Amino acid sequence: MSNGSTSAAAASAASTMDINDTAAIRATHYAHFEPGMHRMNHGSFGAPPKCVIDAQLEGYMRFLAQPDRMYFDELIEGQGLDAVCTDIARLINYPNHKAITLVENATTAAVIVAESIARKFTAGVYARGDAILLFDTTYNAVKNIFIDIVERVGGRLVIQPNPFPIASDDDLLRALDAGLDACGSSKVRLVALDHITSVPAYLVPVTTMIARCRARGVDQIFVDGAHAVGNCPSLDLEAMDADFYCSNLHKWMFAPPGAAFFFAKPSLQASLHHPIVSHNYKLGLPRESSWTGTRDYSAYLAVARAIQFYLSWNKDVENATQSPFANMAIYRRNNAMAVRAAQMLAAAFGTQLPTPISMMTSLAMVELPPALGLLDNAAAHRLRCDLRDRHKIELIVWVNEAATPRRSFIRLSAQIYNDWAEYELLRDVVLGLIAK
Ligand SMILES: Cc1ncc(COP(=O)(O)O)c(C=O)c1O
Repeated sequence: MSNGSTSAAAASAASTMDINDTAAIRATHYAHFEPGMHRMNHGSFGAPPKCVIDAQLEGYMRFLAQPDRMYFDELIEGQGLDAVCTDIARLINYPNHKAITLVENATTAAVIVAESIARKFTAGVYARGDAILLFDTTYNAVKNIFIDIVERVGGRLVIQPNPFPIASDDDLLRALDAGLDACGSSKVRLVALDHITSVPAYLVPVTTMIARCRARGVDQIFVDGAHAVGNCPSLDLEAMDADFYCSNLHKWMFAPPGAAFFFAKPSLQASLHHPIVSHNYKLGLPRESSWTGTRDYSAYLAVARAIQFYLSWNKDVENATQSPFANMAIYRRNNAMAVRAAQMLAAAFGTQLPTPISMMTSLAMVELPPALGLLDNAAAHRLRCDLRDRHKIELIVWVNEAATPRRSFIRLSAQIYNDWAEYELLRDVVLGLIAK
């Protein structure tokens, strides 16, 4: 394959730019950003740099120039999609790229898992009332998927509250035990864990929790790592032992929107189908997913370039092709900036950090000053819009409505295009709102 889709491992030349030279990074890679906007919500949409957008456009134009040749000769027979999976397998330390399927987003991956569970209920392999354990922090779209697909065929959804603020990993292990206890005598067919929760955001000790699930007789474990690739200290699918795992590449791996992967253990592949059934039905999940009707492949065609971009910052890691991300300069830089920003803001707001530093990634939660008087998520939404419209600050504002008393938080992010002055501006704007 040409240009945009050359193997990432083959060509991860180090960037000559200083990772802390935000002005140069913005000018070179993010000139397309709306001028003056302070983006501290990388977690929602990610942000492909110019070189990745160029690779996507180049791939798109080649597709438009001769779609049949591109699809059949390059992507399928030429194993172009396979090559992308090989790059991903290296990133997540899994020896067999055939366990990986390219999907458009984490939502699609969750539907694939839910459908596979639902099939077992309808085939009578699982009995009515067998349990699926989710948490109140499970991403809302994923909760809805399980409600619609699994509850409808007789599965019993148990939704366990997770504490927030949170003191340590032990809080989550206790919540897991409480959730499994709440399943009572129902056989637990699936536990869905987040690797990094969305809102509130924190890093979950999934490997320990999976071991606990296995010890307690859970059938299968799905880890939703939508925020994880490129944004967690370590991602080792061999060591983790999840049955199913997914991550977006369009969040922290710099790919364009519409690029994600789904992992399933090889022994489970045969039972999986893409929810959009088309010509490739029963040819295996990767092939089924490669044809879901006529569609745009250009995001996949830019994944290798996106991985190269991520790896190019890690000059100090020889032949960096895979996690642990904790060794990589880009992860270290973003994590350190998010932690420092959270500490600075909490001190200025007079609030306690709601998560330990060890559970922060490049996303961090900060409690807002109670004097702001945010009591529900409608008020939080109004503040978010106000920050965007009047101050050009983009981030998530959230009220924990489940807690008494209710407390309000921001979720901030740090990425290579953020500089320290943006967090100071955020501090001054919030303090200014209280002073009014
Ligand atoms: C934990 C989690 N799961 C799933 C998703 C869904 O990702 P997508 O919208 O790319 O499908 C998100 C999105 O932010 C998320 O945070």
